[in-house]
Amino acid sequence: MINLAVFGAGRIGHVHALNAAGMRSVRVKYLVDPVASDQAAFLAAQIGADIACAESVFSDTSVDGVIVASSTDTHAELLLRAASAGKAIFCEKPISLDFATVETAVNAVEASGVACLLAFQRRYDPDFRFVRERIVSGDAGALEHIVMHTRDPSPPPRAYVERSGGMFRDQAIHDFDMARYLLGEEIATVYAVGNCLIDPEIGAAGDIDTAMVTLTSVSGRFVQLINCRRAPFGYDQRLEVLCSKEVLYVENRPQRGVSIADANGFRASPPMNYFIERFADAYRNEMAAFVCMIETGDRPLAGIRDGLEAQRIAEAACVSMQNGQPIHINIDWRP
Ligand SMILES: NC(=O)c1ccc[n+]([C@@H]2O[C@H](COP(=O)([O-])OP(=O)(O)OC[C@H]3O[C@@H](n4cnc5c(N)ncnc54)[C@H](O)[C@@H]3O)[C@@H](O)[C@H]2O)c1
Repeated sequence: MINLAVFGAGRIGHVHALNAAGMRSVRVKYLVDPVASDQAAFLAAQIGADIACAESVFSDTSVDGVIVASSTDTHAELLLRAASAGKAIFCEKPISLDFATVETAVNAVEASGVACLLAFQRRYDPDFRFVRERIVSGDAGALEHIVMHTRDPSPPPRAYVERSGGMFRDQAIHDFDMARYLLGEEIATVYAVGNCLIDPEIGAAGDIDTAMVTLTSVSGRFVQLINCRRAPFGYDQRLEVLCSKEVLYVENRPQRGVSIADANGFRASPPMNYFIERFADAYRNEMAAFVCMIETGDRPLAGIRDGLEAQRIAEAACVSMQNGQPIHINIDWRP
């Protein structure tokens, strides 16, 4: 039996806690959320966990791993504590909003030798994974360029935006990771433009709601990202990969596989509401991978260094947008 502790009983903490507790070989022993105590008590009762403080988790030698799903500003400290206590780590993105802190946390986790899965769940989505497999197997031919769309259904509240670190670190970081994952190589140049075209509240909070980012890989291949905080029909999460033998498309997943036709034409089912529904399989798969990592030592599809490299691209996008210039990056580049 694997004993886990979950930090954070919010939106994504619920998903991870329920997925972990649903696994036969897992006991979620502790749930930690000193801020949202009512929410935490409700979730703890659902999964049979004890409410605990961080000290109890890190001093309990029976705890094999921790799931860090708390607010972003808590991740780095929890990573450091988990690393020194020898606990396997499942960590939500981003590692920190401060790049120097990201580097410190990543170096400490790597030096400790503890296993760590960085929660870029899109790598565990069956459709995105299938695309990656066709590229790696050579069936699709040589990858030449990628186009990705990420549009939220509606703008987040201003309070969320103010603490998010901005759209590149909060939302587009998944796309930056997917670009590296599909290309199988690092990014060399980042050119970003962004503006506030949708919600003036986002602009007042100092952020953008619409962006386009062009990435060039080390070998000279291109990725075009389109990111935005609204799509009038709902969640828009699509991918197009041009290879020499095939074009691979990941389309939006409909809520129902039924279209309705009448005298006015055909109406397709709307897409799944948002990331919790769209990536439900991916969240289950990444939790299974975390448990497998603890049980068998299998490497996860995304590790702690992938969190650092995706964030390096996010930081470069911020600088590029401010300066109006492409930014050349490598493993020594920092903002
Ligand atoms: N991979 C994904 O798809 C995905 C989706 C959503 C959020 N996230 C990330 O997950 C993290 C949480 O996001 P959310 O949307 O669930 O936020 P949220 O605000 O709904 O939940 C965060 C929870 O953490 C709790 N918390 C604060 N300090 C804590 C501490 N010291 N110890 C334990 N718990 C603490 C808060 O009380 C809150 O309940 C963020 O870093 C976010 O970027 C990732």
